[in-house]
Amino acid sequence: MTRLDDIRGRPVPIDDLTAFGPGFAWGAATSAYQVEGAVAEDGRAPSIWDAFCRVPGAVARGETGDTACDHYHRWAEDVALMKALGLGAYRFSVAWPRVLPAGGGPVNPAGLAFYDRLVDALLEAGIEPHATLYHWDLPQALQDRGGWPSRDTAERFAEYAAVVAAALGDRVASWATLNEPICAAWLGHLQGVMAPGVADVRAAVPASYHLLLAHGLGVQAVRAAAPGARVGIVNLLTDCEPGSDREEDVAAARREDGHHNRWWLDPVHGRGLPADMIEVYGVEPPVRGGDLAAIAAPLDWLGVNYYRRSVNVADPDGPVPHTRQITPAGTPRTGMDWEIHPDRLEKILLRVTREYAPRSVMVTENGSAYTDTVTPDGAVHDTERTAYLEAHLAACASAIRAGVPLDGYFAWSLLDNFEWAYGYAQRFGLVHVDFATQRRAVKDSGHRYAEIIRAHRDLHGHQDLQGRRDLRAHRLAGRSLE
Ligand code: IFM
Repeated sequence: MTRLDDIRGRPVPIDDLTAFGPGFAWGAATSAYQVEGAVAEDGRAPSIWDAFCRVPGAVARGETGDTACDHYHRWAEDVALMKALGLGAYRFSVAWPRVLPAGGGPVNPAGLAFYDRLVDALLEAGIEPHATLYHWDLPQALQDRGGWPSRDTAERFAEYAAVVAAALGDRVASWATLNEPICAAWLGHLQGVMAPGVADVRAAVPASYHLLLAHGLGVQAVRAAAPGARVGIVNLLTDCEPGSDREEDVAAARREDGHHNRWWLDPVHGRGLPADMIEVYGVEPPVRGGDLAAIAAPLDWLGVNYYRRSVNVADPDGPVPHTRQITPAGTPRTGMDWEIHPDRLEKILLRVTREYAPRSVMVTENGSAYTDTVTPDGAVHDTERTAYLEAHLAACASAIRAGVPLDGYFAWSLLDNFEWAYGYAQRFGLVHVDFATQRRAVKDSGHRYAEIIRAHRDLHGHQDLQGRRDLRAHRLAGRSLE
């Protein structure tokens, strides 16, 4: 496996683009609250993130998503940018509080119309729209009625999913119910470092359970409203390793794996909720008859978001799951201080394939943040991000060769954007955004990604949207015969 150290500072060609089959989806991703801005326009109601950003000290420098990348107004420019980069796919999220401002009940046609325009423009540009229904911006109205710890929120999610799928289902290439429910549940309700800022395991466990239930009910709702839809879920996965070979650290890594990975993967794949973790949490999830079957509804694809590995030591006095992450010295790190380990991406892709046998896998997010600088001529020489991108694509190629049914890769992110509690200082984009002027500038990593996509197209010949869809359908049909 290529190590980032080996390639830092000198971009190397990805020598095995042949691993990526014809029709492979080359994309980039964003999410609504992180890029759209326009939080009070056209009938959008506040979300829990609008509220959380107003809590003193919750977000670095008191920053908010009020304007973000102003994508709500600049979407046409941004689609043109994607087209210029040669992207074949764009993963975006729909803002629930734009579409159903009260969480349920009356639909806001102006909110829905934004995504309608966006989807049409993407198709016009030859870019497949991949929609995510929930990327953490719960309508505040639902939070006021109990939020994710309440079962009603899962039911309202199904209502919302049906509305969006009915409106866009004829044109969207794939649907993700949830993005990284782990963050909404654990960071939002156990650690309290994300919206809604609750730190209580008795709220966190029901919240996590209702997120899983929302996923299951959402799958049914999307399939009912848009027959033929390709539906999946996006999880943030990591490789959990012990910080030493002491028994307690080995056990800590196993608990962290349950907390981070198995809690989210097992129930969705029909294995129920991990019993060892229920014991660790000491809180019984509020399961009702039929729920687990709904949560395990068959999926068309599994989304893997990967950024870094996790190294764990036991922390008996700390909050559940009584583990603490450490960052061993000596490995390269991103600007977020996240260790860089492309080989763990390959390991995770192999693991999910072996243990859960998804029909199709997509890397739905992968990327690195740095505090970039713009040169006087407007360029951004982001050597480290470029190296990170190439090393992780090489890991994907290697995983495909080892049998992973990987059908797409989405760089996080298309644009520098609002990085939640970190605000705007850390930049993940392939495209630099000057937040004062909203000027966009493609970084070197963006140019390199465009080059890779072009090289792959040259290899397999240019396919239009329909051609790419047919190729994928053909591949999926081949897999189900294996
Ligand atoms: O910016 C986030 C995104 O919203 C979800 N996945 C991780 C990214 C980087 O932290």
